[in-house]
Amino acid sequence: MFQLHERAASVPTNSYQREDWQKGYESLKQEFDYWIDDVEGEIPQELQGTLFRNGPGLLDVNGQRIHHPFDGDGMISAIAFRDGRAHFRNRHIRTAAYLEEQKAGKILYRGVFGTQKPGGWLANAFDFKWKNIANTNVIYWGGKLLALWEASDPHRLDPRTLETLGKDSLNGVLADGDPFAAHPRFDPSCDFDSGEPCLVNFSIKVGLSTTITIFELDSSGKVVRKHAHSVPGFAFMHDFAITPNYCIFFQNPVVFNPLPFAFGLRGAAECMKFQPHKPTRVILIPRNPSAGGVQILETHSGFVFHHANAFEQGEEVIVDSICYESFPEVEPGSDFKQVDFDALDPGKLWRFHLNLKDQKVSRELIEARCCEFPSIHKKCVGRPYRYLYMGAGHNNTGNAPLQAILKVDLESGERQLWSAAPRGFVSEPIFVDRTGSTDEDDGWVLTLVYDAAHHRSDLVILDAKDLNKGAIARLHLKHHIPYGLHGTFAPGL
Ligand SMILES: [Fe+2]
Repeated sequence: MFQLHERAASVPTNSYQREDWQKGYESLKQEFDYWIDDVEGEIPQELQGTLFRNGPGLLDVNGQRIHHPFDGDGMISAIAFRDGRAHFRNRHIRTAAYLEEQKAGKILYRGVFGTQKPGGWLANAFDFKWKNIANTNVIYWGGKLLALWEASDPHRLDPRTLETLGKDSLNGVLADGDPFAAHPRFDPSCDFDSGEPCLVNFSIKVGLSTTITIFELDSSGKVVRKHAHSVPGFAFMHDFAITPNYCIFFQNPVVFNPLPFAFGLRGAAECMKFQPHKPTRVILIPRNPSAGGVQILETHSGFVFHHANAFEQGEEVIVDSICYESFPEVEPGSDFKQVDFDALDPGKLWRFHLNLKDQKVSRELIEARCCEFPSIHKKCVGRPYRYLYMGAGHNNTGNAPLQAILKVDLESGERQLWSAAPRGFVSEPIFVDRTGSTDEDDGWVLTLVYDAAHHRSDLVILDAKDLNKGAIARLHLKHHIPYGLHGTFAPGL
């Protein structure tokens, strides 16, 4: 009896019901435009600007389910804060493929993450057409609101109405369909531009070797630097990190077998195989191409989607990243809503020390709690920093949907946790600094929370200095927003 009791006590109870989590993946077909009047607490008067979010809005095409949320058509939500009030608007992005499929009332394109056209493998074999779904991130830069999807070019939207204006070539730099990654980094003070801010992004072209192209845009949106580099092997790289002098990529140990994709049996992302015994390669590309060549270091096997930040310190470059022990491979006949969280490795926050003198990498675990979607103060990008905000599991062990926001003080080690469990599920937190503030954590954390109890989403505002205070405002939307991916806060809009 004693043993049984001990065992039961050591098993952490789930902080959520799977059925609750699943409901957040229903399509949102409608488009809304209204002032949010159902508010608990108070919206800070000083919070002025617009939060833009991107993510799959439709998880089906006229009832035909897509295979994975990453294949869903992009939808932008905009929550504009003005003088203590907030306005909500959402619009599906009118990509060419979205318009075609909505008109046809059925799936016409294969998705990278396994969505197939109806009709089995014969209907899908040797169909290599990409559908630019514009669903991963949304940024405001150079006076343009751009929806990003890493395998193709950006879509430009009207920042007020969210109307789709068409594809954007960055003033002729991108050819039609050229990739432009969904994870730009914003250098607050670029050494090459007399301390002006700049946007740094990349594109990946895969093959037997991989071409990484770096783009740097000045604050008017003009591409001022562009250089391409070839690195050996296949690479799946969703994100990168920057410092004043480097772009840093983690080349995860995966191999790609294109045959099941070619024969219509699997999506391209389902053809990647993780290699647990191979190292992760860390690629450093100088932001100034005349400052030296590409350096490639090696570290433990692992899989990284997102980096939190990087900075230079003496002979080292420090990179903080959310790292998984293995790539969560997408199984072809599986239903993503039935995912067994316990069977997958949780993302954990690691600090990597890249020693450029002896070309060695060491690493230390910073946070073992399951976490994703890091966010920091915009002035700290590429610089030493102290505070990090992330989506996190409610429990401090195991793998689970993100239900909490975790603040990590990298200097003192202190943690603060705000949790929406058991019926709330958080999205990427966005840190917004208070205008004129000097403290790195003086501001707010904004996150959309899916509330399964009411099948609606709330925009939750937290005091970034003290998450323990609880939500300072909770804005109840009239509907849910399907779990999203990334977004941005534009102070001037
Ligand atoms: Fe991402």
